[in-house]
Amino acid sequence: MRQITDISQLKEAIRQYQSEGKSIGFVPTMGFLHEGHLTLADKARQENDVVVMSIFVNPAQFGPNEDFEAYPRDIERDAALAENAGVDILFTPDAHDMYPGKKNVTIHVERRTGVLCGRSREGHFDGVAIVLTKLFNLVQPTRAYFGLKDAQQVAVVDGLISDFFMDIELVAVDTVREEDGLAKSSRNVYLTAEERKEAPKLYRALQTSAELIRAGERDPEAVIKAAKEIIDTTSGTIDYVELYSYPELEPVNKIEGKIILAVAVAFSKARLIDNIIIDIREMERI
Ligand code: PAJ
Repeated sequence: MRQITDISQLKEAIRQYQSEGKSIGFVPTMGFLHEGHLTLADKARQENDVVVMSIFVNPAQFGPNEDFEAYPRDIERDAALAENAGVDILFTPDAHDMYPGKKNVTIHVERRTGVLCGRSREGHFDGVAIVLTKLFNLVQPTRAYFGLKDAQQVAVVDGLISDFFMDIELVAVDTVREEDGLAKSSRNVYLTAEERKEAPKLYRALQTSAELIRAGERDPEAVIKAAKEIIDTTSGTIDYVELYSYPELEPVNKIEGKIILAVAVAFSKARLIDNIIIDIREMERI
């Protein structure tokens, strides 16, 4: 594995791959790698000739009161994990190279951002879209891998790729969980021991609601209420429990087609998110 920080060196390596006709699988991350990230890398390894992973804690996607400074970082440990996962190039750019001077152009995401994390984290998805546009232009991937734990991010990236005619196949990968159901996240390290015990209730709430839908419930409010009742028994504060069409993220009066039920809960130091996506048409065929 090569670790590259310099942008011109990365471009050179990508040009070389392209001249050899190699397909490039790309896994963008902010590091502090866990099994979720490594599952994306595994999949990229299986489906492409070479794998590029980036680690960049992107300042543009953090709000002024968010955890940019405190975001966990451990580049040495990450490099060992990435190498083990079969990553060919680990791209670790500096912030001043990714954002040199004043910006000439910005990107504002118009749709799929007015709800869920987009509502409470103003500008967050603009920052994600900006950094991904830069990274996609540098890496020129054949396929890019994203986790459905951040399902709204997947929906936004889908819109970005299609609006700008990017020649990239978006691959969405299922959420990787701890044995007790908690979705793996770099931010789980912020949970106190007590909160860590309560945290699996987020997924339990989603499963209970999914069960209701499977049993025939089609009223979004009833499904949301059932999930809230379970999350209310934790010490966390609910940011949202909402249900929308997916990937459009439009409100629905009746559960049909493909929907997402998503939750965000603030604990003392960590805000956790989780979701399930259900395709009612597939369920009805079973
Ligand atoms: P980060 O939070 O580091 O996540 C990198 C990728 O790993 C994302 O696609 C995320 O959805 C995926 N991921 C995280 N936890 C996962 C889990 N438990 N199961 C499956 N996949 C998981 O998301 C970002 O970074 C940034 O916004 C980024 C896309 C890199 C842009 O800065």
